[in-house]
Amino acid sequence: MDIVVSGVRPTGNLHLGNYFGALKSFLKMQEENNCYFFIADYHSLTTHPIPADLHENVKTVLVEFLACGLDPEKATLYIQSDLPETAELYLLLNMNAYIGELERCTSFKEKIRTQPQNVNAGLLTYPTLMAADIIIHRAQKVPVGKDQEQHLEMTRTFANRFNRLYNVEYFPEPVAYNFGENLVKIPGLDGGLKMSKSDNENSSIFLADSPEIIRKKLMKAVTDTGQVDPAQPRSQGVKNLFDLMSYFSPPDTLAHFEHTYQAGAIRYGDMKKQLAEDIIVFTSPFREKMLALAADKQYLRKVAAMGAEKAHASASKTVREVREIIGFKSF
Ligand code: ADP
Ligand code: TRP
Repeated sequence: MDIVVSGVRPTGNLHLGNYFGALKSFLKMQEENNCYFFIADYHSLTTHPIPADLHENVKTVLVEFLACGLDPEKATLYIQSDLPETAELYLLLNMNAYIGELERCTSFKEKIRTQPQNVNAGLLTYPTLMAADIIIHRAQKVPVGKDQEQHLEMTRTFANRFNRLYNVEYFPEPVAYNFGENLVKIPGLDGGLKMSKSDNENSSIFLADSPEIIRKKLMKAVTDTGQVDPAQPRSQGVKNLFDLMSYFSPPDTLAHFEHTYQAGAIRYGDMKKQLAEDIIVFTSPFREKMLALAADKQYLRKVAAMGAEKAHASASKTVREVREIIGFKSF
């Protein structure tokens, strides 16, 4: 049984792509491993959120994770700021993290470009905080997307450096459990290859979207200008609709629209209407659970407290041992 750690930044609602590309891996992993999944709210301070938004965003992620089936009895589900041990390990790791290597980090360079008015030390040391998140539980596996590869490489560097400096074999080398290149890629509604809220909000259907919103978004989905020669390659937008249908509609529905397309008689309006209804069937149970969970403060409080306690048991042991290794001794 491996120790698995992963964090998500509280940046809003989950869309269908997040569910199939990421959440489903978490659900599988929680069955087979000792998982620590947390909401990275310390990390999100690099962009200076206002307090009310910060809390609301953390709550959204917690509610949506639970609604998707993350089980607080199976995995340890916690909020990063409920584990101040992370901040201590971060401080200790920073002593052996070098400015040069932090400045060379791609995500830091990207931030200098996109938010030059707010290049704070938290951005520079983002990788040491992320390393602390991971090695505080002495994790072996980290399920993350491709974009986190470099951060994970730095985590290995910091873990190895600690081991070498103190001549111990204390931290394991965590490896990526990569789901960023999974076969499952949910396409966008905007004719793009991938549903993504970062590229374009309009490309995404969120699990929390109401039926009316889903219908509206589908009606606006990009197709082509009308009936084209069925023998010609399909436009990306049309391909996307068929792809989405293969995920969310029953096989005979898909077959029906394939058939009308081939016959040159497709009406995209009808296809979109049908697809919207099928997606609504898929998302409705999630949405109902989210609404119920969001209203159940007592349960959320219990889940967060239980996660904090389990995470604390693991983290406090690590920090105690690290302190000893470093040479902090009580008199
Ligand atoms: P977004 O692109 O909407 O900003 P994120 O980058 O926050 O989404 O996605 C978090 C994880 O969800 C990614 O690491 C990726 O594995 C998964 N994911 C996102 N979009 C898709 C998609 N369209 N299809 C499959 N998986 C996706
Ligand atoms: N940096 C990750 C992201 O942007 C979030 C994150 C923070 C994380 N700490 C982590 C992921 C530890 C995995 C493990 O998505």
